[in-house]
Amino acid sequence: MNAPHAVAAVEAAVRARTGLVLEGTRRDDLESAVREVLHDAAPEQWAETLRTDTQLFDRVVAAITIGETYFFRDPDHFAYLRDEFLPALRAREPGRTVEAWSAGCSTGEEAYSLAILFDQAATPVHVLATDISRTAIAKAKAAVYGRWSLRGDAARLVGEALRPASHADTFAVIPRIKERVRFAHLNLVEGDLGARLPARGMDVILCRNVLIYLEPQAIRRVARRLFDALADGGVLITGPSDPLLGEAAPFVCDYTPSGVRYTKGPHKTTVAAPALPEFIDAAPPPPPLPPQVPAPVEPPVEPPVLLQDETAELTALRAQANSDATGAVQAAAAAAKLHPKSREIPFLEAILLMNLGRLAEAEVVLRRLIYLDPSLAVAHFALGNLRLRSGDLAGARRAFKAAGQAASALPADEVLALSDGETAGQMVTAAARLTGDDKTARGAAQ
Ligand SMILES: C[S@@+](CC[C@H](N)C(=O)[O-])C[C@H]1O[C@@H](n2cnc3c(N)ncnc32)[C@H](O)[C@@H]1O
Repeated sequence: MNAPHAVAAVEAAVRARTGLVLEGTRRDDLESAVREVLHDAAPEQWAETLRTDTQLFDRVVAAITIGETYFFRDPDHFAYLRDEFLPALRAREPGRTVEAWSAGCSTGEEAYSLAILFDQAATPVHVLATDISRTAIAKAKAAVYGRWSLRGDAARLVGEALRPASHADTFAVIPRIKERVRFAHLNLVEGDLGARLPARGMDVILCRNVLIYLEPQAIRRVARRLFDALADGGVLITGPSDPLLGEAAPFVCDYTPSGVRYTKGPHKTTVAAPALPEFIDAAPPPPPLPPQVPAPVEPPVEPPVLLQDETAELTALRAQANSDATGAVQAAAAAAKLHPKSREIPFLEAILLMNLGRLAEAEVVLRRLIYLDPSLAVAHFALGNLRLRSGDLAGARRAFKAAGQAASALPADEVLALSDGETAGQMVTAAARLTGDDKTARGAAQ
């Protein structure tokens, strides 16, 4: 067997066991890694040697994985955990120790960021951190980092949790934070968490910038395993460039400019009364009823009480939506007639319709809204998400593109109408990612 064939055989073996797809120069990296690790073996022995020797296999995998990471990467994710997820969890179960998992933790910055975040929030936490690379895990356990791991806003966000270490320009994680994190070697595709999985499951899983490197079948498998590992009400957060997982398991998906949040089970992860997420709170549509089952009779809906003031109207609608979504839809439709200039009321109506799985009606409302005001980037974005759910990928792409165009007409730091504080710049990035126009976002993840 010549070297190209031997490399191809090793690549196939690596892909089968880890899901890792190696493109372009990363194939060359694989060959270099194999030559280094199996220095005296003939190419025709490579695949077999790696199949039977787990340690050598792990060393090759460690050499080809991309471990780029830093503290508090994607700060929005941590802000969400601190400001929304944690208060909701505390309200549900006061005093509970949070179970968190950094899946694909690389050299540990993400796992320690979780421990720091919950420490700063005075909340007990167990952080499990796993990676397929034993080299990365060893570095993570050492918990000593250079300035590059603290780039961006990280140096500020870590606070007092890192202290200057003995080597010049390095910083060590303080013991109180270190002891909250347990590291373990784990291949997400085929490894078993076993006893490390807490009995009730994980409250928080970060699996960011890991799945982007895996083949579709492995992505689905890992998504399903992560879903199974979540506690009821637990949340999985992926990275902004990661593949969408909504089809792989029955998650409730929240599409946000900084990536998708996937929740398991009935509990909402936000506490705000209207529970309106950043763009969409898209519960999976209910399964179709078998033909012999008569359509359920909807309970009679009280005639809506209309308020003159639009803000008061919205507050009332949101409060009603928490307990009676169907009634709130009716009330919103009536209120939209009373407030024909309102953008928020029909948008809320569309979101509620989507949450109820009434996608065709939601599309009509959104399109009417966009007709009235084509500059509403958030409405275009919601339409894109709606079409994604309907399986209309081309239509979704058009809507995301329109969202990006509408947002790019605004100053990057302008907060978008109908948003929960997202800026035009964030929208441009999110739209580019979803339309596949953003080559730099993928590059940045590496
Ligand atoms: C780019 S790093 C991401 C680190 C961190 N999650 C972040 O977002 O900053 C990707 C990590 O995924 C790990 N990884 C890749 N395939 C994996 C697999 N099949 N099982 C577990 N970890 C894997 C790599 O070893 C690498 O450390």
